[in-house]
Amino acid sequence: MDPINQNIKADYDAIEYPGMAFAQTHPDRLAVLGVLAGISAPPVDRCRVLEVGCGIGANLFPMAEQIPGATFLGIDLSPRQIARGNEIVAELGFKNIELRCQDLMDFPADAGQFDYIIAHGLYAWVPGAVKSKLLEICRRHLSANGLAFISYSVLPGAYSTMIGRELMRYRARGIADDQQRVQVGKEILDFVVENTPYTEEYRQLLQETQKRVHEMSWRHIRHDELGAYSEPHYFRQFVAEAGRFNLAYVGDSDLTDLSLRVPENTRQILYSLSSDPIDREQYIDFLFNRRFRCSVLRQREALTDSAQSAQKLRSLLWVAGNPPESQTGTDPAGRPLCEFGTGADKVALVDTPPIEILRALRRAWPRGLPFEQLVDLAIAKSPVAHPRPMVANAIWQVIAFCFGMRVVELCTRDRNNIVADGAFPKVTKIARWQATHEAVVANLRHIGVNVNDLVRCLLPLMDGSHSRPELAAAMTAAKKRDPSIELPAEVLNPEGAQRYLDNVLRTMAENSLLVGE
Ligand SMILES: C[S@@+](CC[C@H](N)C(=O)[O-])C[C@H]1O[C@@H](n2cnc3c(N)ncnc32)[C@H](O)[C@@H]1O
Repeated sequence: MDPINQNIKADYDAIEYPGMAFAQTHPDRLAVLGVLAGISAPPVDRCRVLEVGCGIGANLFPMAEQIPGATFLGIDLSPRQIARGNEIVAELGFKNIELRCQDLMDFPADAGQFDYIIAHGLYAWVPGAVKSKLLEICRRHLSANGLAFISYSVLPGAYSTMIGRELMRYRARGIADDQQRVQVGKEILDFVVENTPYTEEYRQLLQETQKRVHEMSWRHIRHDELGAYSEPHYFRQFVAEAGRFNLAYVGDSDLTDLSLRVPENTRQILYSLSSDPIDREQYIDFLFNRRFRCSVLRQREALTDSAQSAQKLRSLLWVAGNPPESQTGTDPAGRPLCEFGTGADKVALVDTPPIEILRALRRAWPRGLPFEQLVDLAIAKSPVAHPRPMVANAIWQVIAFCFGMRVVELCTRDRNNIVADGAFPKVTKIARWQATHEAVVANLRHIGVNVNDLVRCLLPLMDGSHSRPELAAAMTAAKKRDPSIELPAEVLNPEGAQRYLDNVLRTMAENSLLVGE
């Protein structure tokens, strides 16, 4: 084995990487990106998924539970992580997931085809030969219309983060104890941020890394910041490299279409520099100092559908969203503006049909609505009658814009397993397991949700066999047992406990944690 690979293996064997669910890797998200690009991606309900560098398999467990008709193979170099993952698979009784200890360099040529291939947090942290092999696996093992997800750190943004990383590594060199390495690394970063006599801009640059590092667990810092190997690329280099393996770029799956956040005149000037979409994306990366990408690839020959069938594909999508609504002023024509969303993820609408659509989505949350139902709604709310295809097109433009601005989500499947209520509240098996082992729990949208002590103590009971009053009583008992637990005194009486529990369950439902029978 290559000495760098040996080191990587030793590193991950010494310290387990804290894995979690990444929504951007979910086959449904990848299928949606396929639809946006006019590709009829393989049906998610019975797909075959490969995750390369899966760690303990934390990203695959919630998928395996949620999509019982699909099969999942995870491979990882580290025996320790795979052994831990297999213990969890056995404990939870998942039958559709296999975790295998394997160097991707030895991935067997006869492993067959996969509809979705995932490699999260791998590409930029392995040597060139391993990167090439990963792309070769995608080329050889991706089914005809399959999609591959590869995340990596990108330049130019990664230049700024490299200063903090190099400083931490420099201070930690020669120290054997991993926790101590992390500790001294954090300390030197804090010290330099506080004491740099150089410019305020330099301090701010380092502060970004400092803030991020302080939000990370020591294990993440040990691997992501102090790991021996890190090699960011420019986006165009990644796409060119994928092209060598006859893989074509589809889009990025982190939902943020940064080009939508560029003022129209800036975008026009930038886009006038090149008509090549890859070039344009590269300029956008420079504009935003982007440092991470979640790129999706397809076989170069994958069939992209005609405009007509692309319309049919998108008409089968589901839309979901719960963006807060606020009224803010008027547009230049004096019409009232309705804003939906928070922070930078916000859209301003003036026309009645789109506004009513976003309100309908908010009412339906945490469930979604079929795209065609939104078209019906738009037709019903429109003051003037237009042909249905025309309305569908107009609504699609709005939905695609809201999707790119992270205001709504798109799915290829109904979310009928997500519920807002229930007499016997239930969460997934994996969420119950995570609640007793970890601080973050995967929700039904495959997002990691931070849970407090109270939720963590309720989740294991929420297997659908305990009623609301029983859960409320458990909460009261917890408070009596440990008065310091963060619960208001009202939970000490039955009505107060029920009221409090109802609120907790409502928040859990909004966070897509509650599952139907
Ligand atoms: C940063 S971790 C990411 C784990 C997980 N994908 C995540 O994002 O949480 C990188 C993982 O890739 C694995 N890895 C590195 N080189 C590999 C190789 N040549 N073959 C298989 N796995 C590898 C490591 O063992 C480690 O578990």
